Amino acid sequence: MSERERGRRQSTAAPGPSGGPTPVLEARGLSKSYGHVEAMVDADFDLLPGEVLAVVGDNGAGKSTLIKALSGAVAPDRGEIRLDGERVSFRSPIEARARGIETVYQDLAVAPALDIASNLFLGREIRRSGVLGSVFRMVDAAAMRAEAQHQLDALGVRIPDVRQPVESLSGGQRQSVAVARAAAFGTRLVIMDEPTAALGVRESGMVLDLIRRISARGLPVVLISHNMPQVFDIADRIHVHRLGRRAAVLNPRDHTMNDVVAVMTGAADPESLGGGTPAAREPR
Ligand SMILES: Nc1ncnc2c1ncn2[C@@H]1O[C@H](COP(=O)(O)OP(=O)(O)O)[C@@H](O)[C@H]1O
Ligand SMILES: [Mg+2]
Repeated sequence: MSERERGRRQSTAAPGPSGGPTPVLEARGLSKSYGHVEAMVDADFDLLPGEVLAVVGDNGAGKSTLIKALSGAVAPDRGEIRLDGERVSFRSPIEARARGIETVYQDLAVAPALDIASNLFLGREIRRSGVLGSVFRMVDAAAMRAEAQHQLDALGVRIPDVRQPVESLSGGQRQSVAVARAAAFGTRLVIMDEPTAALGVRESGMVLDLIRRISARGLPVVLISHNMPQVFDIADRIHVHRLGRRAAVLNPRDHTMNDVVAVMTGAADPESLGGGTPAAREPR
């Protein structure tokens, strides 16, 4: 049994209130306005244990706002979020990270001039032992390099030297470093907002392989993407976002790319495709 199957099996062993597995992350009725712009309107969200959930939607549909609300970067005006069934309210991404939610934002946050090891440990540096670390806050560069190399190796990211500055890397390698950082510290889930948007075909393949390896560890992944073939290649379920809310959840095994695009653009009624709000997702 693969690690991924094991993750799923564990999930079925922990039934939620309505019989299905308890979602790892769950949101009900999230709303957020910027002046007159309603970026999120009563949005629901469910991430199940061990799954790769794709979030798709047109530009401006509110995908990034949803992800920011789930990761503590944006405070929703209304609605509730539950992590492992427990009500949470993150006041910052730091609080979400402390609970094991790691996010790779669309506007990629790496420090180009710093080396790869420093980027992996940005904000979470390993300190030297004794007073050098506790009083003088000296970082243990050797330990960070060794650990960075270990993390990259474990994820199959091939980078010759972790002492290289991130700015010397290709777009795909940089994105891989950002994703590896999320994978290294994410204990409950990893969220990625359009991680392949700026990448070529080969580099996108690299990042998708990385997502597969993260998923194989049993860590659920939320992947925001525009790229339908990629979504169908990698997702277990597809959350379709439209006009600030979840319009449907579709199973890529039961639906075509045309179905998904039709719901995205409003050309098809999700109910007619059998992709309405899934059972066991009744509002509380
Ligand atoms: N910080 C902000 N200030 C004002 N408007 C915003 C802000 N963030 C998002 N919006 C608006 O909210 C809507 C949803 O945006 P966004 O969540 O980025 O959508 P998506 O990621 O699906 O393209 C858009 O109309 C966008 O212009
Ligand atoms: Mg976006």
